Amino acid sequence: MSTVDPIRWPLEAIWQAVEPTLPGFTCEVLPTVDSTNTELMRRFKAGQPEPTLLVAEQQSAGRGRLGRQWHSQRGDSLMFSLGLQLAPADWSGLSLAVGVSLAESLDAASAVHHRIALKWPNDLWLVQNKTERKLGGILVETATFEGQRYVVIGVGINVHAFELTLQESTAIAPNCLQNLQPDADVTSTLLRVLPPLVQTVLAFAQFGFAPFQARFALRDVLAGRDVQLSDGTHGQAHGVTETGALLVHTSSGMKEITSSEVSVRPC
Ligand code: BTN
Repeated sequence: MSTVDPIRWPLEAIWQAVEPTLPGFTCEVLPTVDSTNTELMRRFKAGQPEPTLLVAEQQSAGRGRLGRQWHSQRGDSLMFSLGLQLAPADWSGLSLAVGVSLAESLDAASAVHHRIALKWPNDLWLVQNKTERKLGGILVETATFEGQRYVVIGVGINVHAFELTLQESTAIAPNCLQNLQPDADVTSTLLRVLPPLVQTVLAFAQFGFAPFQARFALRDVLAGRDVQLSDGTHGQAHGVTETGALLVHTSSGMKEITSSEVSVRPC
């Protein structure tokens, strides 16, 4: 897509679907921003805690988990953040519940379901013809300011394939949604995933992760596989607990992995 082609975002349809359950909800598209997560956090700290969907056509400093960069290209990646005040009794498992919602929404348009898998704690994977590669990621961040707790749920989904720069190409090339759904584009993908995502976040605030546990298990790409944790530990993944912790059977017994500083990869 050229940089001059306008992208027609379905903001009105999204607003109509979401506002009745999220009073005060607003949505906005920015042609470019450093990071939609960073921008919503800035706004919250400047006294704007209203529920907001912020979509970026381009990000100059997109962020992933563990300080990683999120690479994207205009029109090829769907990049948005949803910011709102939330007060769940327990925050554990929110990024997993978000992943379940996104995977179910994206799979609903596929001829064959359950091709979108989830890799604990925040990755969407596309599993196709025995190959599996990352399709998207979730970055959940929270902040407290003047007694108010705010959460920003950032989502990046590769919709079309895009060229990686020479520096980026040392990483495994990500997959893209168009390989599964040839007519997918960033606007229809946003409309498909956003209203169910809002419902998911509100349900999570009320009931926590437990109602999502079995749905996560259906798509858990690590289950039963040998994994290596970033601290060097090896083990076998055994699903997630009802608070979203990853169970790993290691030589020193079953471990519950909750640390957001730990990364896990299949061996
Ligand atoms: C990951 O893979 O570790 C998470 C990637 C999250 C990327 C999205 S794009 C929209 C939002 N803004 C960001 O800077 N990051 C998230």
